[in-house]
Amino acid sequence: MTLDPTTPVGRLVVHLPHAMPVLERHRIDYCCGGGRTLSEVCQRAGLDLATLQAEIEAAHPVEEPAVDWDGRPLAELCDHIVARYHRSLDEALPRLVGLARKVAAVHRDKTEARLPILLDLVERLHQELAEHMLREEEVVFPWIRGGRGESAGAPIRVLTEDHLEVADLLQGLRAVTHDYKVPEEACGSWRALWTGLEALEHELHAHIHLENNVLFPRALS
Ligand SMILES: [Fe+2]
Ligand SMILES: [Fe+2]
Repeated sequence: MTLDPTTPVGRLVVHLPHAMPVLERHRIDYCCGGGRTLSEVCQRAGLDLATLQAEIEAAHPVEEPAVDWDGRPLAELCDHIVARYHRSLDEALPRLVGLARKVAAVHRDKTEARLPILLDLVERLHQELAEHMLREEEVVFPWIRGGRGESAGAPIRVLTEDHLEVADLLQGLRAVTHDYKVPEEACGSWRALWTGLEALEHELHAHIHLENNVLFPRALS
C-alpha cells in the first residue's frame, strides 16, 4: 500500500479504519477536517508521509472485519450510527457530567481553578449533543432512510456546523486537562473523569467521521 498524498484524510479512514488510533496519536483531525489531503495534514503535524504510512502499516487491523460503509445501504449506516454511537452517548454524557460535578465539588477548596471550567464544558457538550442527536434521529436520518437525503442540504449543513461546535468543545477540554495528563494529587474519580473524557473524544471523532465523510456526502449525492 502506498499512500497517495492527495487523498483526503477522511477517505483514508473510510478505507483503513485502523489508521484512526495512529491519527489520534498525532492529533490529526480526520472528522471535521476530513477533507484535508494527507500531504496537508502531515505538514501541519510535522510528519512525513512515509512515517505515517509505516505507522499505519504497523497498526493492527480492527478485530472484526471492517465494514465498507461506502457500499452499504444508507438506512443500515443510520441504524449503525444510532445503535453504536448515539445510545452509548446517552449513557456516557450524564455519567461524565455527574463525575465532573462531583470532582469540582470535592476539590473546590484547592487551587484547581480549571475544574469549574471543565464542568461548564462537559455540561455544554452534553446539552449540545443531546439536541444534535435528536435532530439527527427525528429529522435528518428519517429523510435519509426514506431516500430523500438529496433535499436535506440545509439541515445537513446545520448538523455539520454542530459538529464544528462539538470539535471546539473537545479542543477546550483537551486544553483545560493539559492533554488529559492526570495530576499527581488526583483522586480516583478525577482519574476516571480524565480517562472517560479522553475515551469520549475518540468515540466522537469516529462517530462524526462516519457522518461527515460517509453518510452526509452519500446522502447528498
Ligand atoms: Fe450522530
Ligand atoms: Fe452528528
